[in-house]
Amino acid sequence: MKREELKQLLKSMTIEEKIGQLVQLSGNFFDEDESIATGPISQIGLSEEVVHNTGSILNTFGAKKLKDIQKRYLDKSNKKIPMIFMADVINGYKTGFPIPLALGCSFDPEMVKKTAQISAHEASVSGLHVTFSPMVDLVRDARWGRVMESYGEDTYLNCEFSKAMVQGYQDNEKYNLSACVKHFAGYGAPIGGREYNTVELGERTLREYYLPAYKAAIDAGSHMVMTSFNTLDGIPATSNEWLLRELLREEWGFEGIVISDHSAVKELIAHGVAEDEKDAAKLALSAGCDIDMMTSIYSNNLKSLVEESRLDESYIDEACMRVLELKNKLGLFENPYGVANEEEEQKVHLCKKYRDFACDVVTKTCVLLQNKNKALPLSKDTKVALIGPFAQNKSISGMWSFTTDPEKVVTVENGFENLVGLKNIQCTKGSALLDDTDEIEGFGLPMAKEEKINAKEELEKAISIASNSDVIVLALGEHPLQSGEGGARGSLLLPKVQMNLLKEMRKLNKKIVVLLFSGRPLEVKEIQDNCDALLQCWFPGLEGGNGIAKLVYGDVNPSGRLSMSLPYSVGQCPVFYNSLNTGRPLSETSHMKRFSSRYVDMPNDPLYCFGYGLSYSEFKYDNLKLSSHELTNDGVINVSIDITNTSDVDGCEVVQLYIRDVVASIARPVKELKGVKRVDIKGNETKTVTFEINEEMLRFVGKDMKFISEDGKFEVFVGKNSEETIKDCFVLNK
Ligand code: GLC
Repeated sequence: MKREELKQLLKSMTIEEKIGQLVQLSGNFFDEDESIATGPISQIGLSEEVVHNTGSILNTFGAKKLKDIQKRYLDKSNKKIPMIFMADVINGYKTGFPIPLALGCSFDPEMVKKTAQISAHEASVSGLHVTFSPMVDLVRDARWGRVMESYGEDTYLNCEFSKAMVQGYQDNEKYNLSACVKHFAGYGAPIGGREYNTVELGERTLREYYLPAYKAAIDAGSHMVMTSFNTLDGIPATSNEWLLRELLREEWGFEGIVISDHSAVKELIAHGVAEDEKDAAKLALSAGCDIDMMTSIYSNNLKSLVEESRLDESYIDEACMRVLELKNKLGLFENPYGVANEEEEQKVHLCKKYRDFACDVVTKTCVLLQNKNKALPLSKDTKVALIGPFAQNKSISGMWSFTTDPEKVVTVENGFENLVGLKNIQCTKGSALLDDTDEIEGFGLPMAKEEKINAKEELEKAISIASNSDVIVLALGEHPLQSGEGGARGSLLLPKVQMNLLKEMRKLNKKIVVLLFSGRPLEVKEIQDNCDALLQCWFPGLEGGNGIAKLVYGDVNPSGRLSMSLPYSVGQCPVFYNSLNTGRPLSETSHMKRFSSRYVDMPNDPLYCFGYGLSYSEFKYDNLKLSSHELTNDGVINVSIDITNTSDVDGCEVVQLYIRDVVASIARPVKELKGVKRVDIKGNETKTVTFEINEEMLRFVGKDMKFISEDGKFEVFVGKNSEETIKDCFVLNK
């Protein structure tokens, strides 16, 4: 439809029809077997008319189901405006990928883009038009449960992944999903890491570290933005005019749709900025929130606000036009069913090509943290006791995996069997996953059934099979619902029952390999002190077992690197690599040690730093060279370094370039990631890796909140992680 026709359509709509486009409900309002006169609408106080005018629904899936809903809806619709179908396709639709935090550890945006393309293919043939992804909230506090959905603590990487995901969703020939970047903004910095808690970020910090990844998504063309639950500087994001209009629309030029997070419009009352529902409706819409997700606030109040002249109808028109424009962009007026196709679903979902790729992704996202005396890789004839609550666990896809089928997941035991057979492998749980005191609230996530165990018998069985094996492989971890939304934890420790199992195994004096499943960085000090090898597996999804087996037996050489620091203790949180030096840095203060920036009871540094990860190869860095030690305004400095694989094992090294602005008008971090290269290097081979430095890479948010660079000295670091680097320096002289 031409824009002129859209405008005519808008003009022809009643105010009820226009408001309907600003309402998003869940699919069960439209279930054939659910009379909408009773069913869920009574729960949130909606009229049947509103349901018939609803502009979009969320989290209902399937080509047949969505085509039926669309057809029944259009049959009753006066203006024949199709609905948009949206959902949380976060780490895969049917082919479940590792959680986004794991994807971040690949340091491989191109690979991650492909995961988005596959998700778009699988989800679009099932009738979906929009995904509430990518989530690009910068995270620095492992206590927050939703770190599992983010790409980590670094702004540069977050921007790369944000762009890659939007392109992967939206820039395909035929099978696309509109991206909805979230949660705008700063949701990843709640005080205390406590879910939905207040966010206090100065504007400069917000602009420098937290906002760039959202902007990267918008610059990549994201069709939608989702507001976050939190307040920013005391104002909830969902009613924050500075954020949603001045910054997002006027400064960044975003013209797409802003949708609230689930019930966030209604929560303006709880935040204490809205007197009542009518006030909340006025605040949110006038601030620039176009769609009200899953409440009746807009539907029950906007019309009367206009009638009472408390809200100009132009706000409704503006928001409604954006919804119509997206529907038009997606071609829904001409074809309300998109590419929904049952036959395609059968052909595409979980196809071998996609499963094989998902397995490759697992091998690139697990991070080898410790490998004492080359405990790994195992030879294929090793007698293995595979023990732990995650040894046969199918629930290894993380919290946002409800579109996938846990019964299809490849467990660790399945993966070992697929690779080496079970002749040399004995497997048992050994312990429960959780302590009796652990509270896990259901979330409707399809979880594999956890049967009750007899703890004493299980442990005895574990000890028995371990005693008759060469190596003990312990699959341990936190429950998938101990992270994700609502999964904030004050402790980062494994459940006591699992630590007890580990210590019982340690008494047997056998080589121990721990496979650690989690949605966040955990405190692993005591785990690593009681094992030989430690592989961080995150929640690896559908092909978890196959990918992990390939790493454990050396078919693939680990190359994952931490995109989020692993704290020495939860007491350090938030802990991150690109921190400021402070006036009394522990490493260089002239004061007594006591009076320096430190803890008296633990180190400042995390246990494992950003960018860290081991390989079965050994890489030596030397011969760092700069083409010049002076950078002019439009010039470039070429950085080169030689990397030698001093082992016999072919491997992939993740070479990282960091820069420090030594003196500036604003205190700058001790280093910031500015470039990454994944380089395959054969055993005993040397490769020269190069990077380019230009003036744009040196910019930061200055006193007037604009990105600027300043002349002066810079340090450049190249290395295998944020701590092990080789340094040189140069001067910017514009
Ligand atoms: C949730 C989440 C958001 C998700 C939305 C729809 O509360 O905060 O990330 O996309 O609701 O399910």
